[in-house]
Amino acid sequence: MNMVMNRFEQFSFKKVFVALIMTALVFALVAPFSAKAAAADGTYNVDYTVLKDQTNETSRLDSYLTKPAQVTVANGKNVVRLTVKSSNLITTFKVEQNGVLQDATVVSTDTASNTRVVEFEVADLNAKVNAYAEITIPVIGYTGKYDVQLQFDEI
Ligand code: HEM
Repeated sequence: MNMVMNRFEQFSFKKVFVALIMTALVFALVAPFSAKAAAADGTYNVDYTVLKDQTNETSRLDSYLTKPAQVTVANGKNVVRLTVKSSNLITTFKVEQNGVLQDATVVSTDTASNTRVVEFEVADLNAKVNAYAEITIPVIGYTGKYDVQLQFDEI
């Protein structure tokens, strides 16, 4: 009986061991292709496209924001910094934060070049980010209030 038990235990131990090794191997092989790992801390130049609302077409706003954006990854947060051109015409620029459109923080304004640097957080750089701009061109009486999405390239 003892011998039978021993053989049984040995057999089952071997099985569990092999199963564990197999699982570890599968994880090691699959992990690099599954969920994208967060980028290491640092500042990256990241290209992006401004898309027309709910489409994959380039928005008119695209050429009014400079590329690439500077993305600073630190403490699990991604802070995006970019420059708004024709700053006097793009009167409002908001980016969604936790489901709510919020004014991007103005870091600096350069009146001579009519630009302003803005900053905002993006929780997931792999997802389209909802943004919004208001454009006011008084001389021609044009006012536009537009939803757009920002799509970032991979870091
Ligand atoms: C600073 C210059 C301008 C910017 C940044 C701008 C931006 C935009 C944006 C973001 C859209 C939404 C579609 C998209 O995402 O491409 C749009 C639509 C449109 N824009 Fe402008 N625009 C500008 C100047 C003008 C001017 C000068 C006119 C004509 C007087 C104009 C007429 C239109 C029209 C007719 C549409 C489509 C209809 C609509 O959605 O209201 N835009 N523009």
